[in-house]
Parts: sequence; C-alpha cells; structure tokens
Amino acid sequence: MDNPPDLIAHPDLAPRAERIRVSHLCVSYHGAVALHEVSLRVNAGSICGLVGTNGAGKSTLFKALMGFVRPSQGDISINGLPLRQALRRQAVAYVPQMESVDWNFPIHVANVVMMGRYGGMNLLRIPSRDDHRAVRESLERVELWPLRHRQIGELSGGQRKRAFLARALAQGSSVLLLDEPFAGVDIRTERLMIELFQQFRAEGRSLLISTHDLSHITGFCDEVVLINKTVLAYGDTSEVFTEENLARTFGGSPAQLLTSPGLEPRLEPGRQPWRSEP
Ligand SMILES: Nc1ncnc2c1ncn2[C@@H]1O[C@H](COP(=O)(O)OP(=O)(O)OP(=O)(O)O)[C@@H](O)[C@H]1O
Ligand SMILES: [Mg+2]
Repeated sequence: MDNPPDLIAHPDLAPRAERIRVSHLCVSYHGAVALHEVSLRVNAGSICGLVGTNGAGKSTLFKALMGFVRPSQGDISINGLPLRQALRRQAVAYVPQMESVDWNFPIHVANVVMMGRYGGMNLLRIPSRDDHRAVRESLERVELWPLRHRQIGELSGGQRKRAFLARALAQGSSVLLLDEPFAGVDIRTERLMIELFQQFRAEGRSLLISTHDLSHITGFCDEVVLINKTVLAYGDTSEVFTEENLARTFGGSPAQLLTSPGLEPRLEPGRQPWRSEP
C-alpha cells in the first residue's frame, strides 16, 4: 500500500493496562487482501468502536482476534499474552455478526450460554453448580431466562443477539468482541445492551464493537478505530471522530458524506460528529 496508516496514538496508552494489541496484521482470502498492516491497541476499561464500510475488514479483524483466520503477517496479544495462550485462558468472548451463525444447529439457548463455560471444564464437560449459576445470572441479565429451553433458531433476531451476549457474559472474559451487536435490534434491547456494555467497562473489561450507527460512537465509545483494509485513524473519539476522518473512511468530501442525495443528512455540515444534536 502506498500510504502508510496514519495512526493517531491514544495519549494515555503508556500508563494504562493494554487489553488488545494488534501489530502489522495482514490477512488475505485466496490472495485478495482483506487487512493490510493493521495496528491498534485497546486499553483496559475502554469501549472502542470499529467503523468502516461494508467489506472494510471489520469481521475479518474479529475473526483474526479469535484465531479463526490465519494472518499472513503480524502479531496479536491479549492482556500481554500471545493470542493462542489468551484464547486458551478464555480471555476473549465473541458475539459474531449474526449472518455468520448456523441457526439450524440443534441447541437450546441455555446450552449456547453454557458453551461460554466450557473453557473452565474438564474433557467430560459436566457443568458444576457455579457453571449453572453463571448461566442463569447471564440469561437473567439479558432478560432471556424464560426462553432458556427454546432452540436457538426459534428466537427472534434481537433475542439471538442477547443469547450470544449472555454466552459472552457467562465466559467472564476481560475482552469482548461484538460484531454489529445492534443490527436489527429494537430500541429497548439496544438500551439494555448499551447499559451492559457500560457495566463491563466499569468492571475493567474492554470492548471492541463494530457498528454502522455513528451515533453509537459519539454516544458511548471512548475510542474509535476507523478502518478500510488498514487503520485510517484510531484513538480518543473526541480527537479521531472528525468529519475529515469520516470522509476518508467512507469516501467523498465531508459535505457529500453528510448530505448524500436521497438520504436524510445524519449530521449537519460543519457540525462535529461527536457533539449531540440540540
Ligand atoms: N471467507 C471469505 N472468503 C473470501 N473472501 C472473504 C471471506 N470473508 C470475507 N471476505 C472478503 O474480505 C473482505 C472483508 O470482509 P469482512 O467481512 O471482514 O468485511 P466487514 O467490514 O465485516 O463488512 P460488513 O460491514 O459488510 O460486515 C470483503 O471484501 C469480503 O468479500
Ligand atoms: Mg462484517
């Protein structure tokens, strides 16, 4: 790539504990580049938004962070540990983009959530009382306990997302990866999720969340990564989430981006995107 990534470093990186570190990550699918020289860090107790166009490589980054795709180059560490070791310790929980899940898989909601506990079990996978308690608490937190015996494919879209969130909760990981968790959920579920995310942050966990709704970034993300195969900018939301950087991310001039023909302007031209509308 001609232009190196224009990284904007987080001013507080050094003194704070680092949860996720990605260095010079490259991923290709059958020779086609999906991620090139991606470098970023997410600190402890931080919610980091991941923003980019369709096909920008957001899901690929999540899959690389879960060890599901093999990078051609680069390193990933979680809590200072190499990725494999961190994954073995269940340090990372993942809520996938819902299109990538096989909903016909015959499994009950409670068992989906119990899967979050497998890492701490022996080979026979016989759940302990603590495991059952964690599953119950997680399902209650996402308000799905009454539906625990349903087959996962029999849930609505928003309920499925909550089931996967409960699995992540039951896992008790310090890093949560959420690939478009808000797509297709109603306003009540969205609020429930945002509250949960803020609680996770208060507990010192770190969250990387992809979203196409830019108001989420201004609403509750401390940091943001703007991505288009490579990292265009990342750092504090207030510094990085500018009209210019959004225009670089989505193409076109800032004015075009904010007033696309046929679309309601999402932001008034000249207004900084992180300021809330009056
Ligand atoms: N399994 C695969 N095999 C081949 N190419 C793939 C595969 N998965 C993704 N890609 C390609 O890699 C690129 C990045 O895809 P990715 O799913 O990471 O994008 P994304 O940012 O998550 O997009 P969206 O917002 O639509 O979810 C795209 O060009 C996509 O077509
Ligand atoms: Mg995706």
